[in-house]
Amino acid sequence: MHVLVTGGAGFIGSHTVVALLERGHDVTIVDDFNNSSPEVINRIEQITGLRPTLSEVDLRDEDAFDAAFAAAAPDAVIHFAGLKSVSESSSEPLRYYEHNLGSTFSLLNAMKKHDVRTLVFSSSATVYGAGQEPPYVEDGGVLDANNPYGMTKVMLERILSDIAVAEPNWHIALLRYFNPIGAHESGLIGEDPRGVPNNLVPYVLQVAIGRRPHVSIFGDDYPTADGTGERDYIHVADLAEGHVAALEKIVAIDGARAWNLGTGKGTSVKQLIAAVEAAAGIRIPSVVAPRRAGDLPRSWADTSRAEAELGWKATRDITAMARDCWRWQSQNPRGFDPVN
Ligand code: NAD
Ligand code: WQD
Repeated sequence: MHVLVTGGAGFIGSHTVVALLERGHDVTIVDDFNNSSPEVINRIEQITGLRPTLSEVDLRDEDAFDAAFAAAAPDAVIHFAGLKSVSESSSEPLRYYEHNLGSTFSLLNAMKKHDVRTLVFSSSATVYGAGQEPPYVEDGGVLDANNPYGMTKVMLERILSDIAVAEPNWHIALLRYFNPIGAHESGLIGEDPRGVPNNLVPYVLQVAIGRRPHVSIFGDDYPTADGTGERDYIHVADLAEGHVAALEKIVAIDGARAWNLGTGKGTSVKQLIAAVEAAAGIRIPSVVAPRRAGDLPRSWADTSRAEAELGWKATRDITAMARDCWRWQSQNPRGFDPVN
């Protein structure tokens, strides 16, 4: 297939482009690099020996995007492009709603105009809100989120599901990622956040590399085994393979279908820090801080639907995740941009 990958220069997108190319698909990346670096394209070529076509366009620029879409003439789309910071979304909700919904409307209009009806959408475990206990099942209750970023995912899942009901010739995979970490095993691509990282693992890695003095553990009084928050961390290479499996499955399914992409296992903040310490062979200073507003004590996936229907299962454990993201960080202490 020829796959148009929006946000294909980003963290999850770049790993998925590698998986698609290795599987023999053709790829056109559409990215405006608002949260990524053009260097990613060189690294993808280094890993795969193949250079994906690049279209540097903001999806919200409808005319430019439509022209890029027409030129690519894809068979299917994987849609990663969007803003993803929970904290930014709470201070700038209008920007987040406009960006994430506007980009997706522009994409859907182009897909409809050019009669491309196969879409894989980046959703998130955040859509389970606080209404369920883990393990989260896809049809376990009403979707909700406690921040504007998460609400963009809830809203877009609803919009995509409504479209698939009204026009059953759409094939839409709604992929709910749990906590993606890790990096390509080559150490050539990985997560490269701008500014102060919001998420635990990039923060821990920046402490490990000496860019920050210590990591704050947000609460050690949760009702969990060691008192710290438990999450379902998934290796980004497993996640990338999950996208390929979902794409190849959804082309033959009419309508919209949601799948969890996780490992089904919880790992605590303390266990995660210990795994990175073991991978890096150094002690990572930490201090216990108050709980972060909005955090859940525990979150992990029920993975049975993805296993049964996609024939996909995450295979890399937390040791491999820590090893690979440490390799990426130690080989690229300042990420893709040496003056970052
Ligand atoms: P990322 O920021 O690394 O990648 C997103 C890419 O999209 C970036 O390269 C950015 O430049 C591009 N982009 C954003 N808006 C664009 C626009 N309007 N036009 C063109 N390009 C645009 O993020 P990521 O971690 O790779 O996440 C990818 C997707 O997965 C996002 O939709 C995110 O919400 C979702 N998701 C991420 C996580 C996570 O923890 N990383 C978890 C669940 C879901
Ligand atoms: C993990 C654990 C924190 C930072 C977020 C989004 C979610 C999804 C993935 C996109 C929690 C603790 C964190 C730190 C800490 N993104 N922590 N010190 O909150 O599970 O999920 O990213 O869809 O929508 O909400 O991930 O990495 O921020 O936190 O102790 O400096 O680490 O309290 O228990 P989270 P995270």
